[in-house]
Amino acid sequence: MNTFTPADFDFTFLEEGFCARDMVEQRINELSMSDDRDAFYVADLGDVLKKHLRWVRAMPRVTPFYAVKCNDSRAVVMTLASLGTGFDCASKTEIQLVQSLGVDPSRIIYANPCKQMSQIKYASAHGVQMMTFDSEVELVKVARCHENSKPAGCSWSAHGSLGLDIIGVSFHVGSGCTDPETYTQAISDARCVFDMGLGYNMTLLDIGGGFPGSDDTKLKFEEITAVINPALDKYFPADSGVRVIAEPGRYYVCSAYTLAVNIIAKKVVMKEQSASDDEDDGANDRTLIAVHPAPTCSWVNGCSSTTWGPTLSPASSTFNGFQKPDIHYVMSRSNAFQQISAQGLPAPVEEACPSGMPSCCGRESSLELPAKPCPARVL
Ligand SMILES: Cc1ncc(COP(=O)(O)O)c(C=O)c1O
Repeated sequence: MNTFTPADFDFTFLEEGFCARDMVEQRINELSMSDDRDAFYVADLGDVLKKHLRWVRAMPRVTPFYAVKCNDSRAVVMTLASLGTGFDCASKTEIQLVQSLGVDPSRIIYANPCKQMSQIKYASAHGVQMMTFDSEVELVKVARCHENSKPAGCSWSAHGSLGLDIIGVSFHVGSGCTDPETYTQAISDARCVFDMGLGYNMTLLDIGGGFPGSDDTKLKFEEITAVINPALDKYFPADSGVRVIAEPGRYYVCSAYTLAVNIIAKKVVMKEQSASDDEDDGANDRTLIAVHPAPTCSWVNGCSSTTWGPTLSPASSTFNGFQKPDIHYVMSRSNAFQQISAQGLPAPVEEACPSGMPSCCGRESSLELPAKPCPARVL
């Protein structure tokens, strides 16, 4: 777990009863008075906090390793580092980001089954030992480039001669999973791999990502965990000595971000008219709308709509000179926030660590959160 000083974090604490959505509305009103109507985000770190509490409550046996590829914002990574999560890094850049925040390499899994040799060497030189693989070729590559790696994968032949320590099984059901039984099947398959043994003492199960990031999805988070928990109890009971981790990405950040975009042109497409017709019957409309949680929306002013950014998505990169929208970080106060302020985080199964938040963060110094040092988690 990492602690940060107020200077490390740059966000605004929201007053009691004031939520991120109010902040969006306020900013839209301000911008509406000026010519500067660029798109912007409001990111609520309090929502990330709430998600973490929800995770710990719903799956106390499963340690989250946040999938940095999903959103590599420093503020998000810092918040999660202070909450004690691990990190799933898919590249050297992500490892650099996470380690620049003081996260111990034991809290990082290099979860990319096709790694660049130079990046494996980088991970090796910086103490990152856990990594995934899904082919013999990848295993041989890791053996050549890494001093002391601990791979977890889903297909291999016995490779004792490579001098690698194969520590477990990793799977990812895919993002936007709509059938929770997919997890059950994968967990049961993982059990079969453990039972095959292959001469390794395997102690790690990584159940990947795929958890919904907001509550407007068909399948709710708790519907998934209600299936995962009994499957874990059946195939990997608590006394099996197997540590269970996951790689949630969207789960932590989707609902925390709201993007407000300026509609600068619009094209009305009649139902019977093909979207590819190129007639320009659009009219300029300078309306800022808030889009939540994804940068598309199906209804605007009662009409079925799709929102496109300068380069396909409003969240697009600096391609063709379009800047990424500004992000305003806020910390809303919720029951979760009050609970952590008062009692600290619920203790995870692996370790009893009473503090979950930075001792003082943000611009308000009156917030006093417990700041007891916590030993690095052992992977
Ligand atoms: C290996 C792996 N783990 C985790 C994730 C995160 O997925 P999600 O954002 O659906 O949780 C991904 C996403 O592509 C992935 O490929």
